[in-house]
Amino acid sequence: MPKFCLLMTSLLVLGYIVFLSRLPNLHGAEETKGGITDEWLSGFHSILGQGNLYYYACATCHAVNGDGKGPSAYPLNPKPRDFTLGVYKCRSTPSGSLPTDEDIFKSIKRGFHGTKMPSWKPLLSEMHTWNLVEYIKTFSERFREEEPEEPIIIPEEVPVTTETIAEGKKLYEANKCWECHGHEGKGNGPKSGELKDDLGNRIKPSNITRGVFKCGDSSADIYRTIVTGMDGTPMPSYADSIQDEKDRWYLVSYIRSLKRKKNFFDCLFKND
Ligand code: HEC
Ligand code: HEC
Repeated sequence: MPKFCLLMTSLLVLGYIVFLSRLPNLHGAEETKGGITDEWLSGFHSILGQGNLYYYACATCHAVNGDGKGPSAYPLNPKPRDFTLGVYKCRSTPSGSLPTDEDIFKSIKRGFHGTKMPSWKPLLSEMHTWNLVEYIKTFSERFREEEPEEPIIIPEEVPVTTETIAEGKKLYEANKCWECHGHEGKGNGPKSGELKDDLGNRIKPSNITRGVFKCGDSSADIYRTIVTGMDGTPMPSYADSIQDEKDRWYLVSYIRSLKRKKNFFDCLFKND
């Protein structure tokens, strides 16, 4: 976090503590973990003991039959994934392939930044999460009929220099990433207003200056997304059109260089 953000946040926190210390204690002191109280967590785990975890934790959005049209889904954009199609955005496998079990496992743990798909890491054990992976696979015929293809290989990262960033910028322009993501990467390119996903819902290209991504934030994650694309969306796979591994890393260098510095208002009002 930049020093300025740190200073302002510390001052605000200090003020808040002083403020709280002057209030009478109405609720009793409860231990919290990232906003989740121990009491809430134990209630949640007693529900888990009672049966179908998917039904309690996921069906409100993804629906009991897995088609993504659960009771809480209608106002959401992007919509919850329709598991009956077997089409996944975040995969380590080539475009068009099923994801591996591990890909789905990671997505459940990580959640999808900027959407209503929460991170389940604080709530679910590894065992619960693997059980869910197996369960959601049962919604799609594809998992009975096909095997996922081999994950793509991610070679060792090319160290970032001003030259790799400059090369990446050239590739970003030449491959027309800007048509969707905009010349500055803010997600406002000339095509950005007209894009739809495969189900016909409007979809926006990511603002890649935020430094947080749905399929993971590391350099290797970004490399992988460029190669695999995001199935079901207009984000294409560049496996064929950008074949040189160095070029792929140059693009990653450039994308990482776009991460903008946070300002004071971001500290206060935005959490991305
Ligand atoms: C509050 C609504 C909500 C709940 C509850 C929810 N999800 Fe999601 N989920 C979403 C949304 C919205 C998306 C789509 C995000 C996107 O497309 O960018 C999604 C996407 C996913 C994906 C897609 C991964 C991919 O690569 O395409 C998986 C897997 C998933 N959810 C699993 C789960 C599981 C398992 C649970 C229960 C433990 C769960 N979700 C609970 C809203 C929810
Ligand atoms: C035709 C439009 C289009 C083009 C061209 C395009 N993208 Fe995308 N891209 C998208 C859309 C739409 C998304 C968001 C998908 C979503 O949120 O589900 C996206 C998402 C991304 C993400 C975010 C991945 C994540 O994990 O959240 C990155 C990084 C990215 N694109 C890089 C690139 C690069 C690099 C190029 C050029 C080599 C490129 N894109 C070209 C439409 C496009």
